[in-house]
Amino acid sequence: MGMPTVYTTAHVLSSVISTAKMTGTVGFVPTMGALHEGHLSLVNKALDENSLVVVSIFVNPTQFNNASDLSNYPRNLRTDLELLSVFDRVIVFAPSVEDIYPKNDFFEPIDLNCLDTRLEGAYRPGHFQGVVHVVRNLFNIVQPHRAYFGEKDFQQLAVIRRMVVLLSFTTEIISCPTHRSVNGLALSSRNVRLSDQGRSHALIISQTLNYMKNLGHDATPSKVMELGNAYFSKGNLSLEYLEIVDANSLTTLTNHWSDHSVCCIAAHCEDVRLIDNLAL
Ligand code: PAF
Repeated sequence: MGMPTVYTTAHVLSSVISTAKMTGTVGFVPTMGALHEGHLSLVNKALDENSLVVVSIFVNPTQFNNASDLSNYPRNLRTDLELLSVFDRVIVFAPSVEDIYPKNDFFEPIDLNCLDTRLEGAYRPGHFQGVVHVVRNLFNIVQPHRAYFGEKDFQQLAVIRRMVVLLSFTTEIISCPTHRSVNGLALSSRNVRLSDQGRSHALIISQTLNYMKNLGHDATPSKVMELGNAYFSKGNLSLEYLEIVDANSLTTLTNHWSDHSVCCIAAHCEDVRLIDNLAL
């Protein structure tokens, strides 16, 4: 199969995509590189459902609210291309910052109805508007029939779904389950920055989520959060938040469960910020 073709400019990619659309559908997997099994499962799903799949690899500066997080973000295009070389019908878009954000680019933050101020948004101001900005620009270039996002970034999915409605994109948003290592750690590009000991300490995140799920709905969400916090504190990580929220509104549940209750955790392990979530 060989290395996938890499396009670095929007206009060349657009013309390849226009030709492909004459005979089939285009699936899109936006990534920031440092690909892992989770990304590859998105590519597999996209290949099942489309004739051509575009994988973008672009570390988006506008979604980092912390300069060192941006500079430490893992980048390895060659390894990414090797991982993608097992697939047929995949092309890669690896643009420059100037290509994604040309001089005449205009972006007005969209009303995310509190989706961007809660949980991640509270700790990463501006992050979700940065995600919306880049995904809007990427969608405008690729104009995919379907786009694939992982459920690990649960809040990002909610934000993208809202963006698609507000900006009238016709792209269908497809969510795919979180991939985990055998011992439960949610796969993330950031995991490469963890030592072996860090990886083992990080397991407290998924263990806490499973512990909370097993508590069931007999106790109130507040009580389950209290017990979850106590369980989490037996580990070595520093917690940013642990919250049970309604999956649609992202409001914290206290006395009553909703039809779709999700527990979200963000924590720091060896200076690496990790997030995970589980439907309870
Ligand atoms: O989930 C990610 O990797 C990024 O947030 C995305 C969607 C590629 C936008 O930069």
